This record gives sequence, structure tokens and C-alpha cells, in this order.
Amino acid sequence: MSNADPVSGRFTGRVALVTGGASGIGAATTRRLSAEGAAVVIIDVSAEGETVAERVRSAGGRALFLPGDVRDERTWDRAAEAAEEAFGGTDIVVNNAYALDVAPAHETSPASWDRQIGVSLTGVFLGARRLLPGLAARGGAMVITSSVHAMFGLPGRPAYAAAKGGLVSLSRQLAVEYGPGARVNCVLPGPILTPAWDRVDEADRARSVRATVLDRLGSPDEVAAAIAFLASPDASYITGAALTVDGGWSVAKDSA
Ligand SMILES: NC(=O)c1ccc[n+]([C@@H]2O[C@H](COP(=O)([O-])OP(=O)(O)OC[C@H]3O[C@@H](n4cnc5c(N)ncnc54)[C@H](O)[C@@H]3O)[C@@H](O)[C@H]2O)c1
Repeated sequence: MSNADPVSGRFTGRVALVTGGASGIGAATTRRLSAEGAAVVIIDVSAEGETVAERVRSAGGRALFLPGDVRDERTWDRAAEAAEEAFGGTDIVVNNAYALDVAPAHETSPASWDRQIGVSLTGVFLGARRLLPGLAARGGAMVITSSVHAMFGLPGRPAYAAAKGGLVSLSRQLAVEYGPGARVNCVLPGPILTPAWDRVDEADRARSVRATVLDRLGSPDEVAAAIAFLASPDASYITGAALTVDGGWSVAKDSA
């Protein structure tokens, strides 16, 4: 896991920024990319980001925690500068932070709508704006975490679904604008057991399990594996793609 120039000591491996890296899929992606030898800068509003970074460092990897909100342009400036200073630049950006208030449209306040769109969609635009020209110059990759909610309507998620649908279009758009230098892809997770599921009761979890073909919830590591693949040279001919990671949730129907 050394990835350092023997003379200068300079880091020579890939450098990744991961938003929402303090928890769930983002933390799993941080661990996965680190296990593959990358240095990772975690961007998160939660101080748990430091715990995840510290664990990576204790395992011999390279990770930094950059506290900040993805809706704030200064967060992106600070993260890009931290990656440049500590590791020599940025090769991979994983846009994964999100916000969700569960309520039907008529009970969603404009402030709640703005917060959800701001974190899940505008935050990705700000990251793209700051980092994609540099990624294109370095042959880098961006991976965006959308959701099966981009394709299917489930009650109580108007802003979340709109943001996730927007991310699928945005990743195609960015793939076209910043190729061939940078590749941009997205993943569409289905039901994945992360702390986001703490608020879901047993009966609803069982209902979601039954809605999958693989008869279980997914793990954050299983989505992290797909993100790491899309960020890697193994995906060198894949750009503008939307990869569903849902245990067959979106292809199964319970209907006569
Ligand atoms: N878990 C699932 O079933 C599931 C399904 C489909 C899609 N997803 C998507 O996967 C991604 C990760 O979800 P998760 O389940 O791991 O959630 P999680 O709640 O475990 O982690 C989300 C992280 O995002 C951080 N975050 C929130 N607002 C932020 C902001 N403004 N700036 C920076 N960081 C912020 C949180 O602090 C948290 O650490 C999200 O984009 C989510 O929509 C999850």
C-alpha cells in the first residue's frame, strides 16, 4: 500500500474525494478505495468523518477528513486544496452525500425542497464545477450516487426523487462535456442497509427484502465495489453509464 516515490517520498497513487464519507456507502467507498491504494479526502458535515479517516490511517492507508457542507463552494475549494497539498491532486471524485425529508409534495416546505435539492443535486454541480476540468487534465473519473428512486416513484420523496433523476441526466451531461479526459458515471443503489435505514421499522425492511430478487438488503460494501470499479481503469471504456446495484429490486414485480 506504499504508492510513494522512493526518493522524494511523494505520493504516486490515485487521490479520491468522497462526499458523505463519514457513514454508510461513503465510508465503505473510502475503505475500499484506500484498500486499493488510493489516498482519500472525506468531505462530510458529520465529525464521524475523522473516525473513518483515523481507521484508514491505522490500517496503513492515507486519509484526511475535511469537515464541510457540499452546498458551500468553499468546501470544494478547501477539499481540492487539501488533496493537492497532501497528495498532489485529485483523480477521483465520488459525489455521494444526500438529504431526505420524507413527506408528500403538499407537505414539503419550499425550504425542505431547497435543502434536499441543494445537498443531493446542487452539491454535485458545485463539485463538478470545481474539479472536473482538473480531472479531465489528469484522466480522472467521477462517480455519482443516484438511486433507484431516479426511475421509480415511492410515496413521500418528491425532492429526493427529482434530485436523483437529475443526477442521472447530469452524469450523462458531464460525461459528454468533460470526455475524453474524464469519465463520469453513476450508480443507482436499491435497498442498502446503512444508518439511513435506522428509521425504517422491521416490517418495512422485510417488505423491501421481499421486493428484491436476491432476497436481502444490500451492504454498503457491495455499492462501494461498484463505485470503485467505475472509478478504476477496469472501467476505461465506460462513461455516461448508470449502473443499478439493487439485488434485482427494479426488475421484480409482485403482480398477477
Ligand atoms: N441506503 C440506501 O438504501 C440507499 C439507496 C439508494 C441510494 N442511496 C444513496 O447512497 C448515498 C449514501 O447514502 P447512505 O445510505 O450511505 O447514507 P448515510 O446517511 O449513511 O450517509 C450519508 C452521509 O452524507 C453526509 N451528508 C449529509 N448532508 C451533507 C452535506 N450537506 N455535506 C456533506 N455531507 C453530508 C451525512 O453526514 C452522512 O455521513 C446517498 O446519495 C443516498 O441517496 C442509498
